[in-house]
Amino acid sequence: MTTTHAVGFRQYGDTSVLESLERPLPALASDSVKIRVIAAGVNPADWRIRAGQFRLFIRNLPFVPGNDAAGIVEEVGTQVTSFRPGDAVYAMLPIALGGGYARHAVVPQSAVAHKPAPLSFAQAAAIPLTALTAFQGLRDYAGLQTGMRTLIYGASGGVGMFAVQIARQMGANVTAVTSGKNVEWVRQLGAEMVRDYTREDVTTGDEVYDVIFDTIGAHGINRWRRALRRGGILVSIDPIGANPLAQLQAATAGRRITAFIVRPSSTDLRLLNAWFTAGSIRPMIDRCYPLTPAGAAEAQTYSASGRVRGKLVLIADETHASNTN
Ligand SMILES: NC(=O)c1ccc[n+]([C@@H]2O[C@H](COP(=O)([O-])OP(=O)(O)OC[C@H]3O[C@@H](n4cnc5c(N)ncnc54)[C@H](OP(=O)(O)O)[C@@H]3O)[C@@H](O)[C@H]2O)c1
Repeated sequence: MTTTHAVGFRQYGDTSVLESLERPLPALASDSVKIRVIAAGVNPADWRIRAGQFRLFIRNLPFVPGNDAAGIVEEVGTQVTSFRPGDAVYAMLPIALGGGYARHAVVPQSAVAHKPAPLSFAQAAAIPLTALTAFQGLRDYAGLQTGMRTLIYGASGGVGMFAVQIARQMGANVTAVTSGKNVEWVRQLGAEMVRDYTREDVTTGDEVYDVIFDTIGAHGINRWRRALRRGGILVSIDPIGANPLAQLQAATAGRRITAFIVRPSSTDLRLLNAWFTAGSIRPMIDRCYPLTPAGAAEAQTYSASGRVRGKLVLIADETHASNTN
């Protein structure tokens, strides 16, 4: 059986449970791709899973976190025609399976796309889960159309930074919400208006939006109701935020609320590639760390602080992480 070097945990707990592990790689299925990982993204789900918050959904320990990987194809299954060994790719690994914090990952081809050529492997690793969340949320759940007045709440996080840029590319009129220190940074992502949630209550005021895309879940529908036009929709990425009671409250007020969980999609990564290749959307990296237990622990501690601006990335192969091929 093939194994790979990884960083993961054998029991739930604080960052001290993170350790180096030698983990078996799944046999290469006919529709799968084996990737030599050069860089892996870090997401809040990683430390939440490690802390045991999702233990109902995680069947087995040891667990290797990580849902974003960028690297080089080493091997392909017999049915794979779109990728060849040597291709530079990136992928979203399923949330409940993880596996990104490793030297190798085996991923269904339906979750893999060629890396946007101008981006480094580290930049590509900053994309999959959060860019797909923003894209699927705005396109599929908000039904975003040109000219819609759109509020992105939590605009400086991994999801928010892509939501601002993608909403602009989709022709929306974008207001972004962040804290004072990030206002200028978010403006440079393309937001037409930026509001500071530490200085004003953004759920009140004269502005009314067609779409509110909430990446934080700090306010329920009753607080957002006044900022949402009649018939408008609040899209949350906190599934609990759109519980049946909240949906009833929204419907009673003539508004809609929905929540969703991102799904891996090669097709959507390919659609995003056009924007990344043209440079009209950029992944912004806050910090990189080595793929070691100490590096992963530092990254997860920072992620858990809630203050990350853009994305955190773990580097598995320092020599190639800044390269574009
Ligand atoms: N449903 C799904 O499929 C899905 C997918 C991806 C992520 N998620 C979840 O969505 C959440 C966001 O993910 P992420 O990757 O964007 O997280 P993140 O990168 O860790 O978000 C950090 C950002 O959140 C901002 N922030 C923190 N508190 C805020 C507040 N009260 N109001 C406005 N902004 C605030 C911070 O800006 P300031 O420092 O300026 O406050 C910081 O820049 C996480 O809980 C994650 O688990 C769900």
